Amino acid sequence: MNAVVFALPGNEALAQSLADRLKVRCGLLQVRRFPDGEFFVRFEEETRDRSVILVCTLDRPDVKYLPLIFAAATARELGASSVGLVAPYLAYMRQDKRFHAGEAITSTIFAGEISRVFDWLITVDPHLHRRQSLDEIYTIPSDVLHAAPAMSAWIKANVQNPLVIGPDNESEQWVSAVAKDAGAPFTVLEKIRHGDRDVEVSVPRVENWRDRTPVLVDDIISTARTMIAAVGHLNTLGFPPPICIGVHAVFAEHAYADLMNAGAQRIVSCNTIPHASNAIDLDDYLATAVAAYLSPQ
Ligand code: R5P
Repeated sequence: MNAVVFALPGNEALAQSLADRLKVRCGLLQVRRFPDGEFFVRFEEETRDRSVILVCTLDRPDVKYLPLIFAAATARELGASSVGLVAPYLAYMRQDKRFHAGEAITSTIFAGEISRVFDWLITVDPHLHRRQSLDEIYTIPSDVLHAAPAMSAWIKANVQNPLVIGPDNESEQWVSAVAKDAGAPFTVLEKIRHGDRDVEVSVPRVENWRDRTPVLVDDIISTARTMIAAVGHLNTLGFPPPICIGVHAVFAEHAYADLMNAGAQRIVSCNTIPHASNAIDLDDYLATAVAAYLSPQ
């Protein structure tokens, strides 16, 4: 297959893993900074007439965005037959509306720029809040993979007698799927967010499940305020310390330590963002999705 995978800095393990699974080359992409801080980007492998796959998870996106755009545009300029992006975590999904006059709707702007330089996009559980599909903002074909089956399998294999708990009403469909495959009951929190770091929750309908191990699941753990509020609430209800599972281990600043200190029994994440909590491997799903974009030569 005439394809080649390149890692943006920090994505080397996933790029190699995808290349191995797809049986294609993992090429070297040099990204460094000039003394003045500007980026230098160079492909150390031929890209002409090849399907180029760039791997770049997009947590802390601002520093990753420019070299990514430079690399994609360069691959195209150097004759790549297609340029695809594997971004297991997709950034700028949350500001999807103008909450107050004058605000930038960054999800739309970001999607427009990515769509301009890439031919396709693969990601995992993007935070589609008020949108039904990535197609509303991305103009390129995109594949959205779901971590739910892998999370269910992890819960089934690692937790005895689980009770799966979701962060809010909107998560009910997703959480019920995780619970069903794990063979567990589920409930969802009632959540009120007062600010970026101020979250209040209550857990309804839990009286019958006090003998179970609570497993909190969420798509993103960022400040961890949602999880921390839930851990505290479960504690006051007399539950044992919960296991906290997030698809995307964003963990802003000291959020991971804060969540451990709040009384989580264990914190587990999918490997969409490299982090010490990664325990659920999605590389097979990603490789299968990439293969669908590569035509056999
Ligand atoms: C919100 O709708 C999401 O599903 C998560 O609950 C949220 O992003 C978690 O954020 P934090 O960790 O900052 O509370």
